[in-house]
Amino acid sequence: MENGISKHKEQRIEEKIAQFREGQKMEAVQEIIEFDKTPSDLKADMDRFVIGQDHGKKIVCTAIAFHYRRLGQALKKGLAESKGDIDIALRSTRTPKANIMIIGPTGCGKTYTGETASKLVGVSFVHEDMTKFSEVGYVGQNASDILVDLLLAAGGNPNVAQMGIVYFDEIDKIATETMAYKDVSGRGVQKGLLHMVDGSDNTVHIGKERIFLSTKHVLFIAGGAFENLDIIVKKRMARQGLAGNWRQFLMADDLVEFGMERQLIGRFPVRVVYDQLTTQDLKNIMIKSEDSALLAFRNDLDAWGINLDFTDDALSEVARRAEQEGTGARGLVSVLHRVLLEDMYCLPGNYTGKLVVDQTYVKERLG
Ligand SMILES: Nc1ncnc2c1ncn2[C@@H]1O[C@H](COP(=O)(O)OP(=O)(O)O)[C@@H](O)[C@H]1O
Ligand SMILES: [Mg+2]
Repeated sequence: MENGISKHKEQRIEEKIAQFREGQKMEAVQEIIEFDKTPSDLKADMDRFVIGQDHGKKIVCTAIAFHYRRLGQALKKGLAESKGDIDIALRSTRTPKANIMIIGPTGCGKTYTGETASKLVGVSFVHEDMTKFSEVGYVGQNASDILVDLLLAAGGNPNVAQMGIVYFDEIDKIATETMAYKDVSGRGVQKGLLHMVDGSDNTVHIGKERIFLSTKHVLFIAGGAFENLDIIVKKRMARQGLAGNWRQFLMADDLVEFGMERQLIGRFPVRVVYDQLTTQDLKNIMIKSEDSALLAFRNDLDAWGINLDFTDDALSEVARRAEQEGTGARGLVSVLHRVLLEDMYCLPGNYTGKLVVDQTYVKERLG
């Protein structure tokens, strides 16, 4: 009776809290299990955010929709067999996985695709930069770090964490000695990843708790620029007398020649090559994407009661300048920032209502 609550009540409260937790635990999981979007539905949703990359998005969306549909069906069966115990269902099911590799120049939407997909499916997303592994030369402890990141992204729900998406960024930086990265020995790092990508069981210790986490159901997406990979493919095509767009002829062999371990490449069977974004793509991002840099500036100014508007030729000018930066859609942020800097600095000034930016205005600001 220390805190004025009777033992009986305390026990009942504990039970209620446990029930509540269990309920929440299942609710979040249920959403993923019930995933039933078709690949084309998922792509249609993704088109609202990720502009261009039509062919690539088709492949990625098909792989992701199938992964979660397959997992959902398997878990439903597992739940029926385990009388509704999700922990048992997760441990006892195994589904074939088709991890994804996205190759393409910087700022073309590789990471953004993974991130957007995770939101659309309703799963947690973790972004891991592979450069940090290439620097130390091994994966080791990082496997459980990644699992902890997933757990955090899943709001502490281990079951949700185990169904998330892990995005390996700059995967090409762990290539063994190649044309592009001469001083890095990534073999150890690549071998270390195999286990995790296949599905390894781990127990992470958090305070007094020991939490079981497996990567068995985690979908891995790897992204990288793979600079000069086209040269490798084109050389092989010439040797074999093949003609056409190198992107369609990319094989595991080419990635192996680049410096990737065959075993690791084999675990990323779905491979797509994204294109460099064109000036028109960059313009479309500002016009159509529901989450663009321009929209962010618009919202910023909206908070000051200013309605920001760009004329069509101003958007073309911004897109052209951004294209020249050679950093893909990232160029939009820096160009827009330069265009709007003066206005943002002078806020609130004597602005009222509308701020219309036309081509002359853009040219003046950018010189
Ligand atoms: N195809 C695209 N459509 C819409 N926005 C994009 C696209 N590509 C990149 N972006 C924007 O640029 C940012 C950086 O892109 P990101 O996907 O991280 O590039 P990377 O291909 O280097 O991984 C994204 O957060 C997004 O805002
Ligand atoms: Mg990226």
